[in-house]
Amino acid sequence: MQKKSLNSLTGKLILAIGAMMLIVGLVFAYVFIKQNPDIKLGVVLFYGGFFVITISFLLCIILYNLVTKPLSFLVDGMNKLSQGDMDYRINLKTKDEIGMLANSFNLMVEELRQYRDKMENWTKSLEEEVQKKTAEIVKAQEQLINAEKLASLGRMAAGVAHELNSPLTGIVTFAHLMMKRIPPENTQDAEDLKVIIDQAERCSKIVRGLLGFSRKTASEKADIDINTLIENILSMVRNQAKFYNIVFDVQLDKTIPAVSVDPNQIQQVFLNLLINAADAMEEKGKITIASRMITDGDSRFVEIEFTDTGPGIPEDIKGRIFEPFFTTKPAGKGTGLGLAVSYGIIKKHDGQIFVKSEQGRGASFFIRLPVVKTDRN
Ligand SMILES: Nc1ncnc2c1ncn2[C@@H]1O[C@H](COP(=O)(O)OP(=O)(O)O)[C@@H](O)[C@H]1O
Ligand SMILES: [Mg+2]
Repeated sequence: MQKKSLNSLTGKLILAIGAMMLIVGLVFAYVFIKQNPDIKLGVVLFYGGFFVITISFLLCIILYNLVTKPLSFLVDGMNKLSQGDMDYRINLKTKDEIGMLANSFNLMVEELRQYRDKMENWTKSLEEEVQKKTAEIVKAQEQLINAEKLASLGRMAAGVAHELNSPLTGIVTFAHLMMKRIPPENTQDAEDLKVIIDQAERCSKIVRGLLGFSRKTASEKADIDINTLIENILSMVRNQAKFYNIVFDVQLDKTIPAVSVDPNQIQQVFLNLLINAADAMEEKGKITIASRMITDGDSRFVEIEFTDTGPGIPEDIKGRIFEPFFTTKPAGKGTGLGLAVSYGIIKKHDGQIFVKSEQGRGASFFIRLPVVKTDRN
């Protein structure tokens, strides 16, 4: 404890001042006695000692307040800073060098605090950015896997269809020839053969659909106004019994630019979507058809939306509806090729087709067709 007090600045100051005053006091006492030999040594030492102790004491208090105390504030500040406390400020209002030192210290801590806050913000936004990008990558990967799966399924189905096409054509042709040779009175055979022909023709229809899915023939593209295409197809379906009880809400953006597409193929896609919507709604409800322009990064698309008020698509089959042969419809009603063919067509147009649906809340199919940059648009 004593060692510590001697090591402290105050202790050293007291020691130095005490020693100095002692020497000065002794010199004064000596000179005083020399000049006044009749005064007693005890009296001189008593008054001299009292004087020396009082002055030393006052000097110590002044020095403590001027130097040691402010310095201890600085030391406290440094300690707090080294422990990471950047909100601590040294409260010293003096204008001397120590006051200036405290002021510089406060400024430095404030700057450090600001840098720390900035770094913390950067780290936070960096983390958020990394999370966002990771989610985007995961989604893109899923889409890629899905696209790959659909493409390979499509190729496989197209291969099978190609192989089946000729034998099926043979079956239908020869069955027709046989039909002609059956005597009119043999009604039983004629009926059975009719079943064969019907079933074979149904197979042919599926096969033709599959071949359309992978058709290699160059599509005949032209600059098409999608709104006109939609109007055309609407006037076609409105007259069909399937759509009698369906209300159409048509919201077309008249300012969308023309897109380079094969009108027949795109019309087929739209028709597939309308028929699916009518099937889902059991032929009564509302179909909303909207067109609009959208920008995705540098690319611009014309987006067409088909929304129905049907039961929507359950989450567990949402990932499968674009697969060839996937259908939830009873045998004979659905082939499961409509969306697969539509997917193939839209991909060939460098476009996108996707669905948003919550079970019980209808389904929305979106098609995006790229707008090719020209001087006009
Ligand atoms: N608008 C829709 N609402 C609900 N389900 C739909 C809708 N469109 C398609 N689907 C689902 O996707 C499946 C596949 O559709 P698609 O490829 O056109 O084949 P298909 O119509 O022959 O069944 C349908 O059987 C149905 O389950
Ligand atoms: Mg369909």
